[in-house]
Amino acid sequence: MTLTGIELPTESQYREYQSFTQDQLGLFLGDDKAYLLHGRLQRRMGELGLDSYADYFQMLAADQEGQERQRFFNAITTTKTGFYREKEHFDLLVREIYPELREKVSRSELAKIRLWSAGCSFGQEAYSLALDASEFFAKELSTGMDLKILATDVNTEALTVAQRGQYAAETLNTLPERFRDRHFRPINSDQQDLCQISKSVASLIEFRRLNFLQRYYPIETRFQVIFCRNVFYYFDTTLRQALLKRLASYLEEGGWLVLSLTEIGYEIDGLTKVRGEIFRR
Ligand SMILES: C[S@@+](CC[C@H](N)C(=O)[O-])C[C@H]1O[C@@H](n2cnc3c(N)ncnc32)[C@H](O)[C@@H]1O
Repeated sequence: MTLTGIELPTESQYREYQSFTQDQLGLFLGDDKAYLLHGRLQRRMGELGLDSYADYFQMLAADQEGQERQRFFNAITTTKTGFYREKEHFDLLVREIYPELREKVSRSELAKIRLWSAGCSFGQEAYSLALDASEFFAKELSTGMDLKILATDVNTEALTVAQRGQYAAETLNTLPERFRDRHFRPINSDQQDLCQISKSVASLIEFRRLNFLQRYYPIETRFQVIFCRNVFYYFDTTLRQALLKRLASYLEEGGWLVLSLTEIGYEIDGLTKVRGEIFRR
């Protein structure tokens, strides 16, 4: 018995959650993650007045509308993120990628710039892309350059926070100071020292729900840059390869795919490895 009165799942109950999570999201919960599952679900089970993992599983399995499943997805996904996380990638962006795109735009080889933060969590990755873009392309944007960032995630709670664009002041310390000063405005809040991101930066981003496992992605566009970092880490190798190939098909010729610094040693059909975690089409 635990403090909340809900017992840990039994081994066979845990196996059901393992395969459900893998089928629905692609995430593989290791055999040692029963406490993690427990930590993430017990509050919801308490709200529902359930004290058995078997009962909650039945509810998930029978959930036609998908609302409880979505709550489960929101609880089980790991959403750790931050502004300018793995800063090397943003350095690459302003030193190499954005200058190359500017060249193409100036030679009229490129009419619009499209970036994708795939697995964006609470939005800091997409806002970091947008902050750099708003500075780098300031002149072009003021004369109507078409630049948009798509940011997707399966976690709808994270997306709601992302869309709101309000962040605790202490989480802004990884941002360059000039961006903090220029683009974040403190707002009155009883709960926390919150800061609101500027409209000019937010307007570059569209946040949308997307599960990488869904059969059809409602995305017509092709991208010059896709950031998909710290997402496929817990997916098994075969699924990860298939999803990376699928992401690669959304890159324009010459487009960049950036994985996380720890995701090295992969080969992706149709892409050339620039180094460790960075690929080009
Ligand atoms: C650790 S966060 C990474 C956030 C950001 N990319 C970064 O590196 O800071 C992983 C994100 O992947 C999302 N995710 C996990 N499985 C997913 C799936 N099947 N479809 C879409 N997003 C998924 C999670 O909801 C979570 O927000």
